[in-house]
Amino acid sequence: MSKIAIMGAMPEEIEPLLKKVENVKKIEYANNSYYEATYKGKELVIAYSKIGKVFSSLTASTLIEKFGCETLLFSGVAGAINPELKIGDLIIADKLCQHDLDITIFGHDFGYVPEGAKFVETDKALREVAKEVAKKSDLSLIEGTIATGDQFVASNERKEFISTNFQADALEMEGASVAVVCDALNVPFFILRAISDTANDDAGVDFDEFMVGSAIISANFILDMVEQIN
Ligand code: ADE
Repeated sequence: MSKIAIMGAMPEEIEPLLKKVENVKKIEYANNSYYEATYKGKELVIAYSKIGKVFSSLTASTLIEKFGCETLLFSGVAGAINPELKIGDLIIADKLCQHDLDITIFGHDFGYVPEGAKFVETDKALREVAKEVAKKSDLSLIEGTIATGDQFVASNERKEFISTNFQADALEMEGASVAVVCDALNVPFFILRAISDTANDDAGVDFDEFMVGSAIISANFILDMVEQIN
């Protein structure tokens, strides 16, 4: 049976998962902890990467190359750009981009480097599973573009930049790097985020207040999806 990776960036994003799974075995590797576990008969490997694109690339690569995961699900929180997204709402990425990648001086678009792509698409079948799960819940879920960068965004000016250049609906700090890894290694992947703030001047305060609750919403949704993945 195929192994499913579930990753987050911060402890709070995977703790709700670890409370619900069974047969947990902790493995230390590459300065990180990985948790093999089972849930409703499915084999899982769970880890948080630490924040940002570099750590999340390392963890995604390890989950695939060392632990043999054949599907990767990301669960966590994000700042909203699209005004329809309220705190606690869910967004599933149809595609992701790196908003802080900038070699525009050489005539390229923001987010583009040669032999890369400005946007990386997520797995359509996994998105369909999410939509089915959402139908049976009272949660609000939209599908859209997620922009990733090594910055906690807390300014309307930066939000505006990301919106103008990427038409992104939400932003966070790991999704696009995980996407690049999974795409290169041909592993179907899915990025889910629950909104913790709106990336404006109040984002730091909102994040501290809502991050834990939103992380739980995302983690519970991911486990409902695991049941439906073959
Ligand atoms: N994750 C959650 N909120 C965020 C924000 N405002 N900026 C970057 N990553 C986030």
